[in-house]
Amino acid sequence: MKERILIKNGTLVFFDHIQIGDIAIENEKIIAVEPNIPDKNFDLVIDATNKYVLPGAIDAHVHLAMPFGGTVSTDDYESGSRAALHGGVTTYIDYAIQKRGDTLLDILSRRQSLAKNVSYVDYAFHIAITDFNAAIEQEFAKLPSYGVRSVKCFMVYRKENMMIDDQTLEKIMTLGKKYGVLVNVHAEDVDMLENNVERLLSEKKVSNWYHYISRDEEVEYSGVKKAIEIAKRANAPLYVVHNACKDGIEAIKAAKENGQIIYAETCPQYLYFTSDVYKSDRAALYVCSPSIKGEASRAALWRAIDENVIDTIATDHCPFKLEEKAWGENNFTKTPNGCDGIENLYAFVLSKALEGKMSISKAVELVSHNPAKTFNLNEKGDLVVGKDADIVIFNPNDYVIYHNKDTFSNEDNSIWEGVKYQGKIETVLIRGKMALDNDKILIDKNFGKYIKR
Ligand code: URP
Ligand code: ZN
Ligand code: ZN
Repeated sequence: MKERILIKNGTLVFFDHIQIGDIAIENEKIIAVEPNIPDKNFDLVIDATNKYVLPGAIDAHVHLAMPFGGTVSTDDYESGSRAALHGGVTTYIDYAIQKRGDTLLDILSRRQSLAKNVSYVDYAFHIAITDFNAAIEQEFAKLPSYGVRSVKCFMVYRKENMMIDDQTLEKIMTLGKKYGVLVNVHAEDVDMLENNVERLLSEKKVSNWYHYISRDEEVEYSGVKKAIEIAKRANAPLYVVHNACKDGIEAIKAAKENGQIIYAETCPQYLYFTSDVYKSDRAALYVCSPSIKGEASRAALWRAIDENVIDTIATDHCPFKLEEKAWGENNFTKTPNGCDGIENLYAFVLSKALEGKMSISKAVELVSHNPAKTFNLNEKGDLVVGKDADIVIFNPNDYVIYHNKDTFSNEDNSIWEGVKYQGKIETVLIRGKMALDNDKILIDKNFGKYIKR
């Protein structure tokens, strides 16, 4: 049976304006967006007076059940997607990472079968190529038919067998350009990083503070600069993930002004914390790559949002258990790299909008409209007739304090512990279905579906 839902009198938020109005939903889709829709013939009418009505967030950067750092990231597709739903993330794009010898289809199929039947919200995949060879080169042309329009290359993680060298990166970018597949790059300078690590360990500088020192501003800047140069040589568009540094984002700004097509992503942890976190007794929790940088970088990232240099905010959600985070107590290279964030992405960005750090439309642009547009999620990302009714109702007059004990994920720690967000995500609809209402999940765990893009 078709369920018809009407959301009435909300402040509707689009990426370029806001307006008071109503949204009618039927059969998974938004069927009308108008100032005053009569509330007859609906199965459910939701009063959104004095509340914002937003498109669901799209977290374009997550690592669920990712084998990494000698373990597997804490959240699998079930717990990670449950946390996503609680946070108003209605679609996530996970990184499916190639193992030696895998075909591209192997990687995708393995991850699809892990997510199938357990994801609360919709999902798609980027494929991270780690073992490029002639067969992968041949298969690359098929990626769009698999529903995958982006691949990732790590310029680091050599010892983990995940690194793509500069020459291969250029080849992959050339293929990406040819077949309409966007190349996402984790940009840090591996030689600088490895030299730093060797030197620091030999000097017995082993605490997690030295995670930051080993991959400081210079290391990231040098990696970003190289990625930009390689993309220029390949004449290909480039998506730089998780930007954390001032000189890197300024290099991207300059390249964009020079006519290169570059998309820049950052994450809440780089907008909120500074490298001082690595001096605290909780330092291990913040160990992620790239590292969280100094205040000048944090300020530069906010400036880059203002100047439209940053296109997306995603989380790089990749939490590990406290016990695992402690492995690096006497050697920072043994601390698993990654932080949590999927549950509070939208809360963070919307709270910052209410504080005046950006407009509410800008928040929607960065976490919904732009990720949808950049990654070909054509049915997502806007409150527009014909799109999927992925909708968040947000009460700006309430607040939330993030506590790990209340999380919907599997984490036993969080970098966001105790952080207060203005506003509360009250209701989430996914494809026209009431999925979450006041912290209560109303859908089954197999509701999410794979989105080809
Ligand atoms: O520290 C991080 N970011 N872990 C996940 C893998 C990556 O580099 O994105
Ligand atoms: Zn990365
Ligand atoms: Zn990542």
